[in-house]
Amino acid sequence: MAEPTTPAATVDAPPVRAEDFEGAARAILPKGIYDYFAGGAEDEAAVAGNRAAFARWRFRYRVLTGASEPDLGLELFGRRLAMPIQLAPAATQKMAHPEGELAAARAATATGVVYCLSTLSTTSMETVATAEGVRWFQLYVFKDRGITTDMVDRAEAAGYQAIVLTVDTPILGRRERDFRNAFGLPAGFQYENLVGPLARAGPADVGQSALAEYFSFQLDHALTFADLEWLAGHTPLPVLVKGVVRPDDARRSLSAGARGVIVSNHGGRQLDYAIATLDALPAVVDEVGAEAPVLLDGGVRRGTDVLKALALGARSVMIGRPYLWALAVGGTDGVRRLLQMFREEIAVSMSLLGAGRLDELTPDLLAGP
Ligand code: GLV
Repeated sequence: MAEPTTPAATVDAPPVRAEDFEGAARAILPKGIYDYFAGGAEDEAAVAGNRAAFARWRFRYRVLTGASEPDLGLELFGRRLAMPIQLAPAATQKMAHPEGELAAARAATATGVVYCLSTLSTTSMETVATAEGVRWFQLYVFKDRGITTDMVDRAEAAGYQAIVLTVDTPILGRRERDFRNAFGLPAGFQYENLVGPLARAGPADVGQSALAEYFSFQLDHALTFADLEWLAGHTPLPVLVKGVVRPDDARRSLSAGARGVIVSNHGGRQLDYAIATLDALPAVVDEVGAEAPVLLDGGVRRGTDVLKALALGARSVMIGRPYLWALAVGGTDGVRRLLQMFREEIAVSMSLLGAGRLDELTPDLLAGP
């Protein structure tokens, strides 16, 4: 396969916050690729809503606590992690940078955070495993169950430590940017965990998205909790369910064998006008937070966003687009710089909040909307 030609680039002014990477990435990525990563469904109201929800909360900080050197560490599924941030599953990362998923995974390993590899990655799960570190595997369920079980078994054999089942994507949301750009996998890229026709999406006809077609033809549209139960019974790895925004679904997920829940609306890329994830979080935490870790993604751009999510009961958060932009700009080094920024922002804000440890982040530290 030809190596993708997306250039890595450096930014003239060094980024000082996560969002600085986006402008730099936009300047270097082909429009169709930038739009695929940046875009959401229809009016992109769910994308904006995730961000807006964070802005509605303010801190009621503590003083004179002596919390000058906060401990950002946590434990999840028996692994010690350096901070409550993880790299969310995101498809086709070689479209952002020639080293793609491996570069991002190396940054996660160097920083001590989880890298969650997408089913639709442009680097095989075995190659990404060479980055070592704590790795999870995100699963889409194919109509052909043999392909699905094969991928889960390969992930286990390659040392992935959890399976993240995405449940908000029975079909792909209507992403109008992708329709306008006739988005498909550019030449030279393929889904490296798959073979044959399953390894390619595209090309698309004008006004269509080849990815949407791929989802319609290849993936199972009708998953139920019985399928979750089947998956949890098939693998010894913990299964987390990603894409839950309701307490009843969180409860049913645990009853069907899930060991964790990720409150997510797929970064606003699936059902538009989906509830903001931060708004959905408290009820899910109330329902299952005492029994299993509840994670959150969607719109996390600041250390203070992370602290708000944790104060409302999330154990950790995932970031998606910010690290794709950092990857586009600087490969492994870019993602490391981004993670370092988050680390510094979290540490400073914890000191200012008067919290010395993550378990001191409690709802009383927030003034609600
Ligand atoms: C794939 O999961 C996507 O959101 O494009």
